Amino acid sequence: MGDFNQNIDVSEIYEPPKELSANAHVKSMAEYEAMYKASIEDPESFWGEMAKEFYWQTPFEKVGPEFNFDRTKGPVSVKWFLGGKTNLSYNCLDRIIQQGHGSRVAIYHECNDVEDQHASFTYDDLLKKVCRLANALKAEGVKKGDRVSIYLPMVVELPAAMLACARIGAVHSVVFGGFSSESLAGRILDAQSSMVITADGVMRGAKPVQLKAITDKACEITQKDGFQVRRVICVGRLKGTSFEPQTKYDWVEGRDVWYKELVQSQSETCDCEWMDSEDPLFMLYTSGSTGKPKGVLHTTGGYMLGSFATTKYTFDYHPEDVYFCTADCGWITGHSYVTYGPMLNAATQVLFEGVPTFPEVDRFWKVCEKYKVSIFYTAPTAIRSLMKSGDQPVTRNDLSSLRLLGTVGEPINPEAWRWYHRVVGGSRCAIADTYWQTETGSHLITPLVGAMTCKPGSASLPFFGVETAILDENGKELSGECSGRLVLKRPVPSMMRTVHGDHQRFEETYFSQFNGYYFTGDGCKRDKDGFYWLTGRMDDVINVSGHRIGTAEVESALVAHAKVAEAAVVGFPHEVKGEGIWCCVTLNEGEAYDDSLKAELKKQVREVIGAFAAPDEIHWAPGLPKTRSGKIMRRVLRKLALPDYDTQDLGDTSTLADPAVVDVLTETAQRYE
Ligand code: WTA
Repeated sequence: MGDFNQNIDVSEIYEPPKELSANAHVKSMAEYEAMYKASIEDPESFWGEMAKEFYWQTPFEKVGPEFNFDRTKGPVSVKWFLGGKTNLSYNCLDRIIQQGHGSRVAIYHECNDVEDQHASFTYDDLLKKVCRLANALKAEGVKKGDRVSIYLPMVVELPAAMLACARIGAVHSVVFGGFSSESLAGRILDAQSSMVITADGVMRGAKPVQLKAITDKACEITQKDGFQVRRVICVGRLKGTSFEPQTKYDWVEGRDVWYKELVQSQSETCDCEWMDSEDPLFMLYTSGSTGKPKGVLHTTGGYMLGSFATTKYTFDYHPEDVYFCTADCGWITGHSYVTYGPMLNAATQVLFEGVPTFPEVDRFWKVCEKYKVSIFYTAPTAIRSLMKSGDQPVTRNDLSSLRLLGTVGEPINPEAWRWYHRVVGGSRCAIADTYWQTETGSHLITPLVGAMTCKPGSASLPFFGVETAILDENGKELSGECSGRLVLKRPVPSMMRTVHGDHQRFEETYFSQFNGYYFTGDGCKRDKDGFYWLTGRMDDVINVSGHRIGTAEVESALVAHAKVAEAAVVGFPHEVKGEGIWCCVTLNEGEAYDDSLKAELKKQVREVIGAFAAPDEIHWAPGLPKTRSGKIMRRVLRKLALPDYDTQDLGDTSTLADPAVVDVLTETAQRYE
């Protein structure tokens, strides 16, 4: 919502750390500018050269892009590396092993429990694991183009399952383990995936998460819609551990199978399915302005290049680095910057199963010390919440191995940026504030920290090949210092190609507001130095702790409660989460609002979407503030939701059908918890 950016200082700058700069892939502004120019003026050579890094079973005939962003000229389309055939799993594993890195650690698995056995997996180990599962999936009848849903915690089987799907050409749909059974069911149904890979459960901090039981319930829900999940493959994460008694689930004979049993007789080698560059790789659901999340579809060649190039340049990745991204593979960050990008770069990384506060608030820093992490990537919300515990939990650990810090998911407020820089980075590390989206697959705007000065709160400048523009509300391109809507004028290689099963929705969501441009949905300012400052979403999407949530999704979860007649949901600035969820409900005739109903409604949202979408505030009103034509006046609600709003400052409310509603809300909205 941009409120954190109110106190920005566009002249506060941090020079690139000298040592980092000296060894960086891009060492100076002049180098960045030359490369950027080449990427825009001659994408064919720029990306074509970079794509030589990979193994192409059939070389591409054309780099591209071939694209159409103009709806008047036919369907919107994006295509890269036409004619090429390749495979992501091959490029992440076999190619790396052929380069002589088979014995390099690919993954250090850091378990939730400090006392647990933390296994590590080399590239050789991982390839075998992936091949066994890929063979098992094939034996189960999974074919190229089939969808497989993955609902796993952060165990090595999660990236392995993604790579196994990629190996045989199956399209994975990873669902974050924090989503409810209803959300999982919706995603299974939409993808029509007859196979789900899950686990018995997982400990998150001190709390068990019943993944198998949630999956069972999701399968029941899909059955009501006439869709049968054929196979549930279950990783025994807690099986045989002291936590086993805490996991409770049913076992459906004929449908359920233990992962271990399924893969044990399988071969450790598996030929790849050679995929066309534009064959689908995965889909990932994300929230938009309607109640139904959309399956963002990514394809093979362009995504491979985008995730590879950004990992290499944004994180200035070098072979001696140890990389740690705290994101879950259930989100796009975990796809591009846990599974694919790092492995395409032959990286050694930490895969973290736990939470930042367990057993203590210094868990991230303990992990960094333990593995001598040099590149650390997390979300501003985590930084803000850890900042609250002061400097000591950070400084009592040896973080001297760190050289580069990244953030992602939401705007970072300068105060958190400075703390991250000073306390975590010991004033010596560079910070990459990376702006991008599920839809773009990889970084759009980010500093290349060896080359650029950084400004706290700014994502800096566009990555190679990213041609941005800022538009006014009429779609006119603005120049120089300006503020407006951020769009792309051409596709980046890793950009989404469509919404699964609904190309029209793809066009309407991203290309209808400003024909000829891809609209990000974000507001943005450009300062006098050309630096970009993202100011937040301009649609009905809110960003809660870096998680994207559609207000319409929360509204539909609330109205699904028998007592609720109508609901309206807006975001409000939240000190730790970035944005909080503020709801306002009206009830059916004869129903009364009290604390127990409020608690029920919160529970309702947790059950329908997931715990991370639980409302912060729910207020009752006799009616919603609507115009006479029946439209909810969201701007009034957004003002009411501000913790320190001023009743005088609600703007023009004269077009409201019933202005008295605002008076009641003004009263009830004051009752903060
Ligand atoms: C927001 C996460 C400011 C933005 C990778 C975008 C950011 C949405 C940043 C995408 C950043 C992401 N600065 N805002 N560095 N990174 N956003 O799809 O509003 O979960 O449109 O992808 O997060 O969220 P998504």
